Amino acid sequence: MSISDTISPPAALAPATARPYRPPAPLPRTKPLSTLGFMVALRENPVTTWGIWNFEKPITSGKTALGHMTGVSSPAGIRHVMVDNVSNYVKDRLQLRVLKPGLGTGLLTAEGDSWKAARRTLAPLFAPRTVESFVGTMHGKSRALAARLLARADGDRVNISDEMTRVTFEILTDTLFSDAIDGTPEEFGRAFTSYFENQGQLSPLDMLNAPAWIPRLNRMRAQPAITFFEERVKQIIARRRALIATPGASVPRDILTLLLEAADPETGVGLSEAEVGANIVTFIGAGHETTANALSWTLFLLAKHPDAQAAVAREAVRAETMAPVDWLDNLPMTRAVIEEALRLYPPAPTLSRMALADDEIDGVKVAAGSTVIISPYVVHRHRMLWSEPDYFRPERFLPPARDQIDRYAFIPFGAGPRVCIGQRFAMHEAVIVLANLARHICFAMPKGESVMPLQRITLRPSPRLEMLLARRADT
Ligand code: HEM
Repeated sequence: MSISDTISPPAALAPATARPYRPPAPLPRTKPLSTLGFMVALRENPVTTWGIWNFEKPITSGKTALGHMTGVSSPAGIRHVMVDNVSNYVKDRLQLRVLKPGLGTGLLTAEGDSWKAARRTLAPLFAPRTVESFVGTMHGKSRALAARLLARADGDRVNISDEMTRVTFEILTDTLFSDAIDGTPEEFGRAFTSYFENQGQLSPLDMLNAPAWIPRLNRMRAQPAITFFEERVKQIIARRRALIATPGASVPRDILTLLLEAADPETGVGLSEAEVGANIVTFIGAGHETTANALSWTLFLLAKHPDAQAAVAREAVRAETMAPVDWLDNLPMTRAVIEEALRLYPPAPTLSRMALADDEIDGVKVAAGSTVIISPYVVHRHRMLWSEPDYFRPERFLPPARDQIDRYAFIPFGAGPRVCIGQRFAMHEAVIVLANLARHICFAMPKGESVMPLQRITLRPSPRLEMLLARRADT
C-alpha cells in the first residue's frame, strides 16, 4: 500500500489544540477493484479492500472473486444473522480453511452438536464469578509488567506489541491453564505470529476454492508453527492425564480438566483427543493475541491523545483505593478508551458466515451457499451509525452516552450464541493491565513514527508497535 492510499498522521505528538488527530487507517476505496486487484489487496491486507459504499450503505451485495457476498452493516441485519435466524448461518468455507489447519475443530470452528457440547462444557470457566477469581492473577501480572517497563522508562524504545503479547499470554496460562503450559511466552508468541502471518494471508488457491490437496505456499510456511502446536498439546494432555490418575493429587478445575472430563449429558461420550487438543490451541490463540492487540491499539491512541492519557492516569490513582475486581465497572474513562480502541481497531475485524438456505436480510435476497460478511471494522466506522466515525472520541462510551449505542452497532466480541466466550475475561484483563500501566508510565510514539492496521486474522499494528516510555512524575 502506498502512503498516498493512507490517511497520514502528523509527524509528532499532536498538541491538544491542534487539528483533531485522525488515527491511521486505509482510505476507503472510491472505485470498485478489478477481480485481480481485489485478490491482491485481499492477500496483502484485507482491511484495504473496503469501498466508501461499504461505510455508507446498510447492506451491500454482489459477485466478487470469492463468490457472491452480502455485506451486512445495519444493526437489524446483524441481529437477523447472528441472533434471530442464527441456525441458518454457519462458519464459511474460507474462514475454516484459514483457521482449521492450526486450530483444528475447537470451539471457534466447531458447528452443530459438537459446538454445543464444547460451549456447554466450557461455559462454567467463563461465568462472572469464575472470571472474577482470575482478577488477582491479572493484577499481579500487570504490576510485574509495569515494574519491568518502569525499569526501562528512560527513553529506550520498547516493543509494546511484544510486551502486551507476553502479559496476556502469562495471564491466560496462569488462569485458564493453571500454569500447565511450558515453553516461554516468546515461543508461543512466535508460533502464533508465524501462523497468523502465513495462514492468515489468504492463498489465491483458497480464494479460487481449489481442492485442499493442492499444496499452498502459505500453508507450508505455517507448518512449523502447526507442528509446534501439535507437539506441545500432546505433552500438555499427557501430563494432565498423569496428574488426574495420581491418587490423592490435587487437580486444578481449569480448562484442561474440564476438557478431559467433559461428557455429553445424553451419551456420556467425552471429547476426542483431537477435540481436546484443538480447544487448547484455540484458547491459547483466541485468548491472548486479541487482547494483546486491543491493548497495543489503546496505548497507541493514548500516546496520540495526551489529555485522554492523563484522564486514565488520574483514574488509575483513584483505583488504588478499590479492589481490582471493581475496576471494570468503576473506571469509566479507562473502559471507554479501551472500547473506543476496540471500535476503531476491532481485533477480529471480519466475521463471516455461509447461508444454509435462501434468506432475506433487510429486503435483500441471500442465496443458499453464499457468504455473508459482518465486518466489525466497517460497522464501527459506518457513517449511518456513528458521528465522526474515524476519530478517537472515547466520550461516546462514557455513561449516559454509551446507553444510546445500539447493541448491534458495536460488535467487537460478535453477538448471539457465538458471541466471544472470553469477553468478560478480556475486558477485566484489559482494564487491569491499562490502569496498572497508566498509573506509573507515560507512553509516547517516537517522533515521526506511526503504525497502520494490518489484518492477518486479527487486526494488529504494523510495524510492531514501538514506544517511548517515561516515568510519571507522581510515581
Ligand atoms: C479483546 C479481546 C477479544 C476479542 C476482540 C474477541 C473477539 C471475538 C469474536 C468477534 C468472536 C466471535 C467470532 C464469530 O462470531 O465468528 C470470538 C469468539 C471466541 N473467542 Fe474471543 N475475543 C477476545 C478475547 C478472547 C479471550 C480472552 C478468549 C478466551 C480466553 C476468547 C475466546 C474465544 C472463543 C473460544 C471464541 C469462539 C466462541 C464460540 O464460537 O462459541 N476470546 N471472539
